[in-house]
Amino acid sequence: MIDQEDQYFPSIPFRAIVEQSLAGIYVLQDEHFAYANATWAEMIGRTPEEMIGGHLREFVDPGFLDELMALYWRRINGDLKSLRFVTRLVHKDGRVILIEVHGTRMDYKGRPAIVGIGVDVTERLKRDEELIRSKAQLQELAANINRLREEQRAKFARDLHDVLGGMLTSIKMDVSRIMRRVDSPEVQEITHGLLALTQDTINTVREISEELRPSALDHIGLVAAIEKEIAVFSNRYNIATCMAPCEVTTRLSPKRNIAIYRIFQEALTNIARHADATSVFIRLEFNDDDFRMEIVDNGRGIDMESQTMTPIGLLGMSERAREIGGTLEIGSNPGGGTRLCLFAPLVHQGVQ
Ligand SMILES: Nc1ncnc2c1ncn2[C@@H]1O[C@H](COP(=O)(O)OP(=O)(O)OP(=O)(O)O)[C@@H](O)[C@H]1O
Ligand SMILES: [Mg+2]
Repeated sequence: MIDQEDQYFPSIPFRAIVEQSLAGIYVLQDEHFAYANATWAEMIGRTPEEMIGGHLREFVDPGFLDELMALYWRRINGDLKSLRFVTRLVHKDGRVILIEVHGTRMDYKGRPAIVGIGVDVTERLKRDEELIRSKAQLQELAANINRLREEQRAKFARDLHDVLGGMLTSIKMDVSRIMRRVDSPEVQEITHGLLALTQDTINTVREISEELRPSALDHIGLVAAIEKEIAVFSNRYNIATCMAPCEVTTRLSPKRNIAIYRIFQEALTNIARHADATSVFIRLEFNDDDFRMEIVDNGRGIDMESQTMTPIGLLGMSERAREIGGTLEIGSNPGGGTRLCLFAPLVHQGVQ
């Protein structure tokens, strides 16, 4: 009878393949290395001769030894047939080397052993960790920028409204007093003009202050503030807008209100700046446990892949969504244009 292995792998030089393999290959028996190829040994600065016959504990990071021994015996005892995990060995120079291994229980010389293969993933895992760290730092930065912006806007809005607004009102009153006292038609005309100009300036200051920190949000609520913004947008840019009717069943916290409102504002600014759209559709949906906002334009669409720099506006929007426990999706709309969708749960730890 032909041996099954001979039938499927006739005269393949397995020994050469194992010895030349770019992945590390090892056999463990009785907690000792019964075999290690050159690649396996090199990963921790050794030769196969230095490893073969050595006990696992001579090469494993002491902090990982108990865990590794448990995994080893679970396979030898047959609880697990094979296992893939990251092991921690110690290099001859003292560094801990992370090796992703896949080891399987097999019989070797008639007794249970583990035959495994492994690759050095130290650098990859380090890069992954760095990437995760930088992503967290970027998120923190975006959150700080949002917070600072909001604080500064609120301060400017207050200063403009209270200080400049107060001064302008005094000027207006003084001009009115002058107007009442002068008889000359020429001076009357000048003061009339001055009064109108002062009133215009007061209105402009009020508008700027409102834009900086929309008091409408606190007074008339999110939906009304959004409707107001839509009307201004539509007028200013001559873009048709359509908002689906929405029923407000829940009152959102000030933190949620401001986050959603700022996301909405940035989305509209982006449409005005980049989309080349002629119409925008907006839908707000309040449910018992969550809130959704959808903004779809019919413009040129957005290609997220081709964004070369980190887009600060988009990042800020995502961060605001994250701060209220929500998610933000932006992409091309299947029917053309760009679609933004914000989803925010209404119960989220840390957000009132
Ligand atoms: N509605 C949209 N339609 C088409 N392209 C868009 C749309 N919204 C965003 N973009 C694209 O995404 C890019 C990133 O947007 P983002 O808001 O982050 O930056 P920005 O608007 O260019 O600058 P800012 O940091 O001032 O917001 C834009 O430069 C634009 O190319
Ligand atoms: Mg933008």
